[in-house]
Amino acid sequence: MPESLRLERLTLAIADLPPYLAGVRLVHLSDFHCDGVRLSPRLLARAIALTNELQPDLVVLTGDYVTEEPEPIAVLATALQGVRSRAGTYAVLGNHDLLYPRSRACIAGALQGAGVQVLWNEVAYPLGPGLAVVGLADYWSPQFAPAGVMGTVPLRVPRLVLAHNPDSADALTPWRVDLQVSGHSHGGQVVIPGLGPVVGLVKRGRTWLPQGVARAVPLLWQDWFDVVKDWRRSAGLHTVGNNRLYINRGLGTYWPGRWFCPPEVTLLCLESR
Ligand SMILES: [Fe+2]
Repeated sequence: MPESLRLERLTLAIADLPPYLAGVRLVHLSDFHCDGVRLSPRLLARAIALTNELQPDLVVLTGDYVTEEPEPIAVLATALQGVRSRAGTYAVLGNHDLLYPRSRACIAGALQGAGVQVLWNEVAYPLGPGLAVVGLADYWSPQFAPAGVMGTVPLRVPRLVLAHNPDSADALTPWRVDLQVSGHSHGGQVVIPGLGPVVGLVKRGRTWLPQGVARAVPLLWQDWFDVVKDWRRSAGLHTVGNNRLYINRGLGTYWPGRWFCPPEVTLLCLESR
């Protein structure tokens, strides 16, 4: 079932956020999968137009710009040049942006050329010293190493962490993370309202069945099973230790489509606490 783009709005109180940043507006986009198949040009154009209508102070992107070969990033990078915000666009890469040896350089280079700042275990202060924006290497890459960069941010400074894979939130509990934004799960794409993503229900159901019966369960969802550790944490706002995690359902769509899981543009408004 094709579903139309949905705007999600959240207001979050952030400790130590300086008064000059109260009410700051962030737009979060994720999981484009620009490959000629999984993201329609119309949806991409609508997502960018909606982003601009929201007049954000900052735009953040959490990876999976392409699906396999990196070259389609040229199309997406051109489109992203149309994104407008006061302090720019900051991004991290996802697992699909690292599939080939040339992928990382190709994708990061195209994004940088379009004015998007790509963070790879780096911190930036696009809104001034009162809010750190930390961008991590993808959790599934050997370069995922939060310790060095998290340790460089002064303790009293609130942090927004960009990390493609929401499972990385468990590894970040030793540090203060006021808000982590992630994607990767696509929200499970096929969701039964009130019960959650079908992939999670099938995965959990298989563990309850006797092995012989479990083997007979159709393997339709097998490729999805381990995308995230626990599908109950695959979209929306969650608490992980002392930290908060927001998971965006993404824009691109894999077979067999989306059901009660529309592609998403997120507006995050930060308030002082
Ligand atoms: Fe993805």
